[in-house]
Amino acid sequence: MAKVRAHSERSIHRHLLLVGAVALLCTVLLLPAATASAAVAVAAEGDGENRSAAQWATGKDEGELSAEREASGGGSVVEDDFAGGFGSLDSMLQWAIGNSDPGKLKEEAEDVQTLSEDELLKRRVEIKELMEKLKMPSDADLMKIAIADLNNSSISLDDRQRALQELLVLVEPIDNANDLDKLGGLVAVIQDLNNANEEIRTTSAWILGKACQNNALVQSQILGYGALERLVKMGYSTSAEEAAKAMYAISALIRDNVNGQEAFCSERGSAMLQHILASDSTDVRLQKKAVFLVTDLADFQLNSGNSGLAFLSERVFLKLVVDMVSKFDLDLQEKVLLAIRSLLNLPTTDATDLESCDLNSVLYRLGVQLEELPSEEQKEYAGEVDALRREVQMLYQQKLKEGRSTATLAL
Ligand SMILES: *[C@@H]1O[C@H](CO)[C@@H](O)[C@H](O)[C@H]1NC(C)=O
Ligand SMILES: *[C@@H]1O[C@H](CO)[C@@H](O)[C@H](O)[C@H]1NC(C)=O
Ligand SMILES: *[C@@H]1O[C@H](CO)[C@@H](O)[C@H](O)[C@H]1NC(C)=O
Repeated sequence: MAKVRAHSERSIHRHLLLVGAVALLCTVLLLPAATASAAVAVAAEGDGENRSAAQWATGKDEGELSAEREASGGGSVVEDDFAGGFGSLDSMLQWAIGNSDPGKLKEEAEDVQTLSEDELLKRRVEIKELMEKLKMPSDADLMKIAIADLNNSSISLDDRQRALQELLVLVEPIDNANDLDKLGGLVAVIQDLNNANEEIRTTSAWILGKACQNNALVQSQILGYGALERLVKMGYSTSAEEAAKAMYAISALIRDNVNGQEAFCSERGSAMLQHILASDSTDVRLQKKAVFLVTDLADFQLNSGNSGLAFLSERVFLKLVVDMVSKFDLDLQEKVLLAIRSLLNLPTTDATDLESCDLNSVLYRLGVQLEELPSEEQKEYAGEVDALRREVQMLYQQKLKEGRSTATLAL
């Protein structure tokens, strides 16, 4: 059996231990037996207001918790993270004290004075041992367990997917992401980009994207392992989910990262982008991601003065972007307008290339569509998109005029 599953079982075991600890502590604290068993019931099931045990530990509400569970693809990490309903032994103690009956406590305290020194000592030792056993594994421990599973070629696909789901949650905090490579995690996850199973590949790309998001260290580690080549190939996948997660990972990897963008060009990432933009059958969410990446790259190029991404200003590329304005999806159209605005701002973009893409009439037709089509609830949004359309129109006219006067000067 894989270690990850064993880990889940261990956490149930921990839970039972904690319930035992509550009982024990209650006894030591001289709570009446009834209170002690009530405490056990509460620790196990939540209190009278039906608060779930998880809330005791995390202070999060049920909505947040189930959202996290969903985000983790139903993984068990979040649920495993609380210690039987109490974040710490301290909070458990606080609870036990808060829920005791002072009158009865006094009564029992008088009884307990009859316990011998030895008996009290023995109890203290028992509690100490219990506390040792209850020590929660650290995130690094959990990552090691998951990574060892990934490194084990004989585990089942289910267990592999579970280990990946755990890592997906674990790499979210930046400290954990920074530890991933040291623990051998990046190599293991990158290897799984080549797994025969699509779901495994998809989750692996997702982990890489999450780990390197806004993290220059992990970006350069992943780039150093050459994972971009594989991710670009995955961008061509006929599975919308796999291509979308690959696109997510690529965006995170090359964002604000000159080396990453150079690697993107040399791995022919632009051809992959064009493939996604050009295809009619492509999932619209994937196209939105691609368009968003174009805007991001153009903005970075403009702000950094770096001009390594020549493809952004090539006429074929501009034409693909402009053609997307004609797709009937308001959200996509807005993203495409933002991309065109950013591309227009690039000094390397030639307005006459956009003229040959017929940008003028494309924008005009969009204006007509925005006026005629929107349903009542889309009116406001359509108005915003139209304002953006007019801004792009003006920017374009201005750039055309500048181009002409420069051309005249050159003559
Ligand atoms: C690899 O996984 C198999 C099957 O789950 C298990 O029997 C074996 O002990 C694991 N090997 C290591 C080194 O953990
Ligand atoms: C707690 O949950 C039970 C069913 O699980 C329900 O009957 C009861 O009304 C709930 N109590 C509160 C306070 O919401
Ligand atoms: C994975 O296994 C290889 C040998 O098969 C070993 O060299 C490597 O250290 C292992 N990595 C981890 C993180 O366990």
